Amino acid sequence: MSNKLNFKEKRVLVTGGAGFIGSEVVSQLIKGGARVTVLDNFSSGKRPYLPKNKNLKIVKGDIRDEKIVAKVVKDQEAVVNIAALPFIPDSYFYPGDFFSVNTIGSVNMLWKSIKSNTTDLFIHISTSEVYGSAQTVPMDENHPTAPHSTYAVSKLAADRAAFTLHKENGFPVVVIRPFNSFGPRFTEPYIIPEIMNQILRGNNELTLGNVHSSRDFTYVEDTANGILRCLQEKKAVGEIINIGSGKEISIYDLARKIAKISKKKIKIKYDESRERPYDVNRLLADNSKARKILKWKPTISVEKGLSLTYKWAQKNKVIFSAPFSRWYYKNK
Ligand SMILES: NC(=O)c1ccc[n+]([C@@H]2O[C@H](COP(=O)([O-])OP(=O)(O)OC[C@H]3O[C@@H](n4cnc5c(N)ncnc54)[C@H](O)[C@@H]3O)[C@@H](O)[C@H]2O)c1
Repeated sequence: MSNKLNFKEKRVLVTGGAGFIGSEVVSQLIKGGARVTVLDNFSSGKRPYLPKNKNLKIVKGDIRDEKIVAKVVKDQEAVVNIAALPFIPDSYFYPGDFFSVNTIGSVNMLWKSIKSNTTDLFIHISTSEVYGSAQTVPMDENHPTAPHSTYAVSKLAADRAAFTLHKENGFPVVVIRPFNSFGPRFTEPYIIPEIMNQILRGNNELTLGNVHSSRDFTYVEDTANGILRCLQEKKAVGEIINIGSGKEISIYDLARKIAKISKKKIKIKYDESRERPYDVNRLLADNSKARKILKWKPTISVEKGLSLTYKWAQKNKVIFSAPFSRWYYKNK
């Protein structure tokens, strides 16, 4: 599999393009020769994460803003809808905002794209969280959806809307379900940035909740490559496709691997107060559909990806700037 994709000056709109996954998607699009517009309100996304390039236009705006969205979708050939409020703990305190951005915002993107009459593909970014905890493993796209958080419900509602709008209007939609993604240019205090930040702050003892739960971690370059393969694989239209490495690791083992990379002597302490209520225990992707339809496969191991991410985190201090107060920082 060659990872290099060619987009031949295709006009692509990326919402949330200044964020963690979005900035990698934009970077691969630009490298592949696309003409890219980013729509982002910079609630967590960061301008320096975006490349400086004559083929990149940046529009500051909200995916819920009907006027701005109608304007930016005009003449776009493809839309990659990545913008969302993605950090689960925030959704415990601001459930309405999650529905407003993740569901209503996505419906606005879909509807304005349908009305534009120029969009020939809408790639909607969902999440493995819509499945809830694994009932069978590995989890394929037919695994029951039993979301555990308001975040996951708000994302599932958007997936369903994408599908009804696809069926009702003959509008070409693909729903991509990434399992946990990791890598440089993170924006949210997800578990890997959290562990790295604790180590880089000089802690010799990591305090973590939910250490026995396990996740399928995929390096962000592979996640973005999977998303963008939809632009060239026509069979993806009308499908839900998982993007995940197909390997699982417990949070405890993950922390051990990061500690080893840091070359520091680190103890791991379980802290009950850090447990997320009603957390998903286990996620593990069956990625056969992505391999078959998108001709995708993961190329970067967790060890290699962690090492690249740690090097980046050593050089870059990230201010987590999403608009909501971070409950667990406040409670520490
Ligand atoms: N990171 C993961 O492991 C993961 C896994 C599965 C799915 N996802 C999904 O991938 C997408 C990106 O996640 P991420 O981790 O890169 O998060 P992120 O916070 O880095 O990216 C979200 C981007 O959307 C922008 N944004 C937020 N609200 C907006 C609004 N109302 N209008 C316009 N822009 C807005 C933010 O500024 C940011 O640039 C989300 O849809 C998320 O649900 C992420």
